[in-house]
Amino acid sequence: MGKVVKVGIIGFGTVGAGAAENLLKNHDVILERSGVDVQLVKIADKDITTDRGVQVPASLLTTNVDELIAEADIVVELIGGTTIAGDFILKALNAGKAVVTANKALLATRGAELFAAAEKNNCDLYYEASVAGGIPVIKALREGLVSNKIQRMYGIMNGTCNYILTRMEAEGAAFEPVLKDAQALGYAEANPSLDVDGFDTAHKAAILAGLAYGKWFGLEAVSVEGIRNITELDMTMAAQLGYRFKLLAVIKNIAGAVQISVAPTLIPANSMLGAISGVFNGVMIEGDTVGQTLFYGRGAGRDATASAVVADVTDVAMNIANNCVRRVPAFRAGKNDVPLVKIEDVTNRFYLRLTVKEQTGVMAAVTEVLAQYQISISSLMQPEGSSGDQVPLLIVTHATKEVAMQQAIKEIAQLDCVCGDVNMFRIEDI
Ligand code: HSE
Repeated sequence: MGKVVKVGIIGFGTVGAGAAENLLKNHDVILERSGVDVQLVKIADKDITTDRGVQVPASLLTTNVDELIAEADIVVELIGGTTIAGDFILKALNAGKAVVTANKALLATRGAELFAAAEKNNCDLYYEASVAGGIPVIKALREGLVSNKIQRMYGIMNGTCNYILTRMEAEGAAFEPVLKDAQALGYAEANPSLDVDGFDTAHKAAILAGLAYGKWFGLEAVSVEGIRNITELDMTMAAQLGYRFKLLAVIKNIAGAVQISVAPTLIPANSMLGAISGVFNGVMIEGDTVGQTLFYGRGAGRDATASAVVADVTDVAMNIANNCVRRVPAFRAGKNDVPLVKIEDVTNRFYLRLTVKEQTGVMAAVTEVLAQYQISISSLMQPEGSSGDQVPLLIVTHATKEVAMQQAIKEIAQLDCVCGDVNMFRIEDI
């Protein structure tokens, strides 16, 4: 028999129910592999009468979080949000209890405070489920790739966006109807902003960047754009050019400074990341020693998230059982204060979409502005079959600094022959 380590779960929602089920169902497998008898002793929630679809002994359920914290060795926070969840975590850490959480928004906004409390109380604080759900990417970054300087990471880390983009491309459909359908099918939230405006991915990018570069960057360090601007025409043109749109987190070491951005980005359709479709997530991590590694799997959902939560619980239980608490610290700051690269200073190739008047001289006027800013054109298209007074014009550029691109776009948008806004997307050739 292994040493007994007691676990309490705060939050009996979808993920809480999944974690409880996994802990109960796979108790023996966890014991066999870890040598620790990980016992679920309490589940706390405001509502303990609703059927959560998992059979748990009634004696486990409580509405009293204090009682749970007192009894458990490991407190699992699965209520979400950035206020009360943080307070419960601090209470648990201050009581000397280890904590496991899936709460990316809380970590991205209050991480420093929570890490300090974990350190002060000599407790473990694990958070694998906060990034890319069931994919063990945090463990890979902190342990499997520990000997690497991280050069860059690309992440497709929002299943909702990836599902919408995959369907838009496959069906030649517009964003809004696909979003509505995704909401009806339960793939997108009633308020989809956190997902489709890029903030969920930004929380995850901030966490990965922090772990890779030893500085806990807040959400404000991330340049964030969502996917609402992509049209059917963009999808078609991207495909013709051999690219595909992904909501891509980019974390790059650029000469000792770090780019952290989230934006709809064109990536090669035939790349491994380009092949990640539907609700799936993918993360590419490139280290100076290992080269490129790719992680793929379900980034959300009850059981995938529960898998990551219970992996953390088991790690922490092994630390407790083997007297090596904080073997993997919640976060270690590096000795250097790593600067951020402003997105304006990043160099990329760009895809531009303009609506122009169908008249002579348009190409000359537009390309003249680009030339003024030393922006070299890689290809330029007015799709065949366009008709009417206004037609689309698509331009792909060679690599240029974003600041030059933004200034050129501002001028182009003011030309008489250009109607409305100019849409710009970055291209990552991976
Ligand atoms: N809403 C996220 C997604 C999962 O769609 O991938 C939680 O971060």
